[in-house]
Amino acid sequence: MPTLDRIWTRPHLLDLESLSLAEINAILDTARSLKEVSTRSIKKVPALRGKVVANLFFEDSTRTKTSFSLAAQRLSADVLDFSVSTSSVSKGETLQDTARNIEAMGVDAIVVRHRNSGAPHLLAQVVGCSVINAGDGCHEHPTQGLLDIFTIQETMTQRGRQLAGLKVVIVGDISNSRVARSNIWGLTKMGAQVTVVGPATLCPRTFESFGVKVSHDLDAVLPQADVVNMLRVQFERLTSSAFPSLREYTKSFGLTSDRLATCKPDIIVLHPGPMNRGLEISTAVADGPQSVILTQVTNGLAVRMAVLYLCVGANAVARSNV
Ligand code: CP
Repeated sequence: MPTLDRIWTRPHLLDLESLSLAEINAILDTARSLKEVSTRSIKKVPALRGKVVANLFFEDSTRTKTSFSLAAQRLSADVLDFSVSTSSVSKGETLQDTARNIEAMGVDAIVVRHRNSGAPHLLAQVVGCSVINAGDGCHEHPTQGLLDIFTIQETMTQRGRQLAGLKVVIVGDISNSRVARSNIWGLTKMGAQVTVVGPATLCPRTFESFGVKVSHDLDAVLPQADVVNMLRVQFERLTSSAFPSLREYTKSFGLTSDRLATCKPDIIVLHPGPMNRGLEISTAVADGPQSVILTQVTNGLAVRMAVLYLCVGANAVARSNV
């Protein structure tokens, strides 16, 4: 097991915006140490034995929820998968009361996904256990940002390259994307040169204030890119007036084999999932040799193990000192 990182003292992971470069590196370094656990025949370490991690997902999830559950189990924690649809939330119980009641059962960490931006920050003020943001509205998805950065760094290190200075292009519905925001905060702190690309209605120039370039012309930026991260079109958050037709979107912003042929041959392609195959990314590209999409999922487990280990550990230290 890695020793608890002295740089990491936070009980919660709420966003990447507030993290320092040293804190991001502390998570990435810990994830690198913990990745090996999943290759063992017995995929477990006792780091969080006796601890309890609760998943509170108010929005659907395949990857994040499963990944946090497995991460907690690999650290020997008990896992509570809270079912929102069959809970007293349907009777009007508030988010705060739900979380306080779960904490009262002796939970050490709450992993929360919520449609409202800021919900995890609110919970962190009302509970004493760790709170991990698993995606809040359009705001942030910090573990997705971290696993994307981990995957880019790991792939580039294998090729003798550094993340700092890489040209990363993030494509799609930037306005509504919590994945884009966490990628932007994390990647710019790591020294990458980020360009966001999408229709003007979904990728406004205001993103320049985040320290990134903004473009509405994918074909102009792709040939210089080292990494392209294709975002899911989030129909559940879109207004029809902001979105062109499906055919028009794919024509201008879809990553097809023809478009990939204009890129550097060693470009890597990311997608956070779930994918709209044939819309933002073609099947040939998603399953092709430049794709690291399933590597992202594998790395997500190591990153979430690191986040749980560091936050629950730091919270235990802080609470033992009061
Ligand atoms: N990338 C991501 O958050 O996927 P899920 O919605 O399946 O968790």
